[in-house]
Amino acid sequence: MKSYFLKAAAFCIILACTDLSAKDISSFPIGKEWLDNDGKHINCHGGCVVEHEGYFYWFGESRTGGHSDGISVYRSKDLYNWDNLGYAVVHQGNRDDDTLQDISEGRLLERPKVIYNDKTGKWVMWAHWENGKDYGQARVAILQSDKITGPYEFIRTMRPNGHDSRDQTLFLDTDGNAYHLCSTNMNTDINVVRLTDDFLNCSDNETLIMNGRRLEATTVCKVGDTYFATFSECKGWDPAPGHTATTVGDMLGDWSEGLSFCVDPDSNRSYGSQGAFVFSVGSLGYDPKCFIFYGDRWIPSNVGGSTYVWLPMSVRSGYPTIRNYPDTWSLDEVMTDMYRFKRAATIIDNGEFALLERNSDRLMSRSGEQTGFCIANDDDNKNVIFVFEATSDPYVWRLRDKASGKYLSVSSGMLSEDSDGNSKKSMWRFFRLTDGYYNVVNEDCRKCLTVAGDSRADGTEIKLEPVGAGNAQAFGVYFDSKRNNYKEADMFSKTYFEELR
Ligand code: DGJ
Repeated sequence: MKSYFLKAAAFCIILACTDLSAKDISSFPIGKEWLDNDGKHINCHGGCVVEHEGYFYWFGESRTGGHSDGISVYRSKDLYNWDNLGYAVVHQGNRDDDTLQDISEGRLLERPKVIYNDKTGKWVMWAHWENGKDYGQARVAILQSDKITGPYEFIRTMRPNGHDSRDQTLFLDTDGNAYHLCSTNMNTDINVVRLTDDFLNCSDNETLIMNGRRLEATTVCKVGDTYFATFSECKGWDPAPGHTATTVGDMLGDWSEGLSFCVDPDSNRSYGSQGAFVFSVGSLGYDPKCFIFYGDRWIPSNVGGSTYVWLPMSVRSGYPTIRNYPDTWSLDEVMTDMYRFKRAATIIDNGEFALLERNSDRLMSRSGEQTGFCIANDDDNKNVIFVFEATSDPYVWRLRDKASGKYLSVSSGMLSEDSDGNSKKSMWRFFRLTDGYYNVVNEDCRKCLTVAGDSRADGTEIKLEPVGAGNAQAFGVYFDSKRNNYKEADMFSKTYFEELR
């Protein structure tokens, strides 16, 4: 009898352990099956993640094959393990093809976004709406609910201020205003419009951005006064190159286009993803500038079965940057030190600084050979910390490698290190650019630090080229916050950019 109970107890323990390991995950599965806490595929595409009262809520398209089942909602505390809470929106009501004012069975709802309206106390959802027969309606459906999880009440469909609207997103600004961004003019431009106070309509304040660029899959996030947007090129369900844009101070202001957010191989396919949403994980104890980029890896023949590409996004360079973790990654592993290197407010004599290359978001590093330099990922064994020594010219510095004690120098036209810090070959003029980066120009040969071939890849050589003979010639002066407590540049504020002008 005793042995029977022992066996039964052991069996239960094994069951419990098996159950736990099936449910409890602690890293993001990239492009692989991601199961909810019931062991079922998470069916929540093109959506968004919203925080409320200690939980994350994940809304998205629930699809069976290509058919739209409504908008699903999942809930999690840790972003890895999700409970399926069912549908926030189900298709309902009668079809009316004259007015198009319905979300009846058969209509298509895509890319739902949810924000909270403080003034009305309502949760508001906007989704791309199509009639279910073709892709030509290009409307939005607007819904609202008293509870975050729904059910959301259908209010209307419309074209925002008359514009055709396909891929779309909402952005709730820190001042309480909200904006709708959509691909418009047959996916040629992006329209940005401020919503009315109830978030149920569009105001007259709007602007077209990224004109003629043919972009979709817009995401927006903000740090300080700076707004960052990511987009994909229009390629249907196929992964396409990513794009970025930035504006400071005003969502409806001038946006300047940056590079792709991808800095690793497979950049042309955005690592096999198309963006849906970007959100901060600051509430989990990380720097609030630590973002997750949520993309879908679409399976066109079975949209509902599509997988997810959630990747860490950093803006430490001043531009959105995403590294590839092709299989998996965890928050602790990546986010803990994401902002270890911070941009210095000023260069100070005898200060210890690293040089961050703008396009790659990578640090000037030793390439392994005695004299070679390259751009590399954060790695204490490779990254070079320079002690900046002042000269009689306030813009010219000697850069002493803290590890070797030698000065960054030029020998036979190549970058090298030299124990003589007084030669012009070991002096570097820092020309400041309008975004706070520098061209770092040698006083002797007048050539500047340049990443070979404009590459953004880890390990690419840094060499010397004439100023203008390449696009990868901008280096930021950053300090290691684990070693030094220098004043950090307020690099996301409006005043920072005003002072640089
Ligand atoms: C690309 C969009 O981003 C997706 O949401 C979806 O609408 C597909 N196009 C349909 O081709």
